Amino acid sequence: MAYINENYLKLPGNYLFAEVARRVAAYREAHPDADIIRLGIGDVTLPLPAASIAAMHAAVDEMAKKETFRGYGPEQGYDFLIEAIIENNYTSRGITVSPDEVFVSDGSKSDCGNIQEIFSTDSVIAITDPVYPVYLDTNVMAGRTGALGADGRFAGVAYLPSTQANNFAPALPDQPVDMIYLCCPNNPTGTTLSKDELKKWVDYARENDAVILFDAAYAAYITEPDVPRSIYEIDGARDVAIEFRSFSKTAGFTGTRCGYTVIPKTVTAKAKDGSRHPLNALWSRRHSTKFNGTAYIVQRGAAAIYTAEGQKQVAENIAYYMENARIIREGLSALGLSVFGGVNAPYIWLKTPNNLPSWEFFDKLLHEANVVGTPGAGFGPSGEGYFRLTAFGDRQATEKAIARIREKLAL
Ligand code: MLT
Repeated sequence: MAYINENYLKLPGNYLFAEVARRVAAYREAHPDADIIRLGIGDVTLPLPAASIAAMHAAVDEMAKKETFRGYGPEQGYDFLIEAIIENNYTSRGITVSPDEVFVSDGSKSDCGNIQEIFSTDSVIAITDPVYPVYLDTNVMAGRTGALGADGRFAGVAYLPSTQANNFAPALPDQPVDMIYLCCPNNPTGTTLSKDELKKWVDYARENDAVILFDAAYAAYITEPDVPRSIYEIDGARDVAIEFRSFSKTAGFTGTRCGYTVIPKTVTAKAKDGSRHPLNALWSRRHSTKFNGTAYIVQRGAAAIYTAEGQKQVAENIAYYMENARIIREGLSALGLSVFGGVNAPYIWLKTPNNLPSWEFFDKLLHEANVVGTPGAGFGPSGEGYFRLTAFGDRQATEKAIARIREKLAL
């Protein structure tokens, strides 16, 4: 007889963005003529950089000829991409990463979700709250938590509130933890951690034999020079941190799929007999067993963003989205709303007016202004009373959304 993994039953019915989509679909059915503007899921709207398109066309042509056709590639990724990643994102910032410490994948959502498999099921996880729901949900599925309580918290998880009250810099856990998820720039708050703040976490992990799982998917959106782009800018991080990066938001690969994970060979964790093991070797074993590599064509497209023209095109796209962020941030501030993020990240995090619960504000915005955002409560209990808008929309739609909020929303 087959039994289910009952941990799945602990999860709320729908993944956050599926629930948003469900509510929008219901509204559309009832109001077929509504001109709905979607600033909910952080999905890009600009096409891929021309350099990537050209590289992928060329790669398709290679696949069409017997002499240049490629079948299975290296599971870890092709050298041409790994070398370009290291040179452009690490060596250029004085960080040493070796090629066998980089694992190319089909995107960092998969990696952030799968990484927990190499840790013991009784590891205690710490997550900043609010944060990208994948970290928590995948650990719930794996049985690393208890049940969901009435307070919106899963038992056995160390939630690290990250709110206006602490300037979005969460305090260190007040209980022992083993795996610490940090997302910087943070999704959903759009805020970042300074070098000193990150140093605090690296020191904590070193002192407590914990591992930091650092999601830097939005690093390309950092505009302020002092904000670290990589956790490896912090002394000692190479012993305790794994870093996730993505081409999705950097270069419009949300539908094309490519990301990578960096695991320095110096990051180790203990087996129950006390012996220490490099996590790089465990992940490599997992990756080569469960994954057959990202498509060659896609990796060529990803590598092309590191050419001179690719870098220019990526910078232009990011500037476009960050201008949207400015429009949203300034437009909402002018209405007297408390607004955060949008300076080093493509997300704007706002306090709901009159302390409205997040989902109520979601409905209000949808019904009164036909604008879709993401309720803060969907990112964790400390997100209640907040709301996220994405800067990844089309410019005209973004301007129209702000004008509608100004004109139609009864604040
Ligand atoms: C988001 O809206 O938070 C992201 O698009 C989700 C993701 O990157 O998977």
